[in-house]
Amino acid sequence: MDLIALLRELSDAFGVAGFEDDVRGKIERLIAPLVDDVRTDVLGNLLASRKGKGDLTLMLDAHMDEVGFIVKWIDDKGYLRFAPLGGWDPRILPSHRVEILTRAGERRQGVIGSAPPHILSEEDRKRPIPIESMFIDVGASSREEATEMGFRIGDPLTIHPPFAELRPGYVSGKAFDDRAGCVVLLEAARRLAEAPLKTNVVFAFATGEEVGARGARTAAYQIDPDVSLSVEGTIGADMPAVAEENQPVRLGRGPAITVADRSIIVPRRMVEGLERVAEENSIPYQYKLPTYGGTDAGAIHVTRAGVLSGVVSVPCRFIHSPTSTLRVDDLENTIRLVAGFVKALPDVLALG
Ligand code: CO
Repeated sequence: MDLIALLRELSDAFGVAGFEDDVRGKIERLIAPLVDDVRTDVLGNLLASRKGKGDLTLMLDAHMDEVGFIVKWIDDKGYLRFAPLGGWDPRILPSHRVEILTRAGERRQGVIGSAPPHILSEEDRKRPIPIESMFIDVGASSREEATEMGFRIGDPLTIHPPFAELRPGYVSGKAFDDRAGCVVLLEAARRLAEAPLKTNVVFAFATGEEVGARGARTAAYQIDPDVSLSVEGTIGADMPAVAEENQPVRLGRGPAITVADRSIIVPRRMVEGLERVAEENSIPYQYKLPTYGGTDAGAIHVTRAGVLSGVVSVPCRFIHSPTSTLRVDDLENTIRLVAGFVKALPDVLALG
């Protein structure tokens, strides 16, 4: 499968935080032939391991979950009320079509509604509509009807526009945060499959990052790694209305190496190791400007007695919205950096 086909497959999978089964199933099928062992833990993390020659263990982490919503109430007129799972900007929600995963495993459609502007006061029209005031129209006219249609409190949902290649090498789709990272891990695993490794590598596909790095925390505890590298899809903000010094990362400049975000200050040794791998392999790279966002690395590096942790990201515009965009050359260069880093261990960090 080429990179775009792989990204499309994972982007279109359902994986709202806490409901990652669909995306996990797809990743498991793809990675199983490339590793020595695959298992799923209690929190739903998928852990795929390869044995290396040495004693050192590297945890490569990407999160499977995406931001979404959960049905919190079905009213007597048949409208679904919902709450966010992960960070959303409420201004962008009304009138989007949503995909709701029912208990029966069906993906049903609905539309996010809010009071029509025609009936709002001038003041209210200027104010953003809070999510609590929005509702989902599924075509039911009563709670009984909505229930008969299969909807229940607790059903997860997301907004899912179709994946598209806007121009060659430039794609748009949902959940690039962090399916782009999942693609990087899968493709790195494939490219390393024939190579003998000096370190043990665990490809950890984590659950629940968007609600507080929940999966990565327990994954790191059981893997007990010496080193970890989290791979993210992060805030590409090279766009009108954002000053250059406020753009966390930019598209087309290669993988973004994190120096510090709100969840971790990356040890210099790790940053310099990644820079060295990039420079030795002629891979373009950029820094993710401090101190935007947080990642699984925030949970991983404080596990047990501490883990030497770093983060690299694929630049993606419009994350935490229904559709992101990314450049496939950035994705490719991130794969090269991650695979190169694995091969360069443990020497590149002066470990082992
Ligand atoms: Co993320």
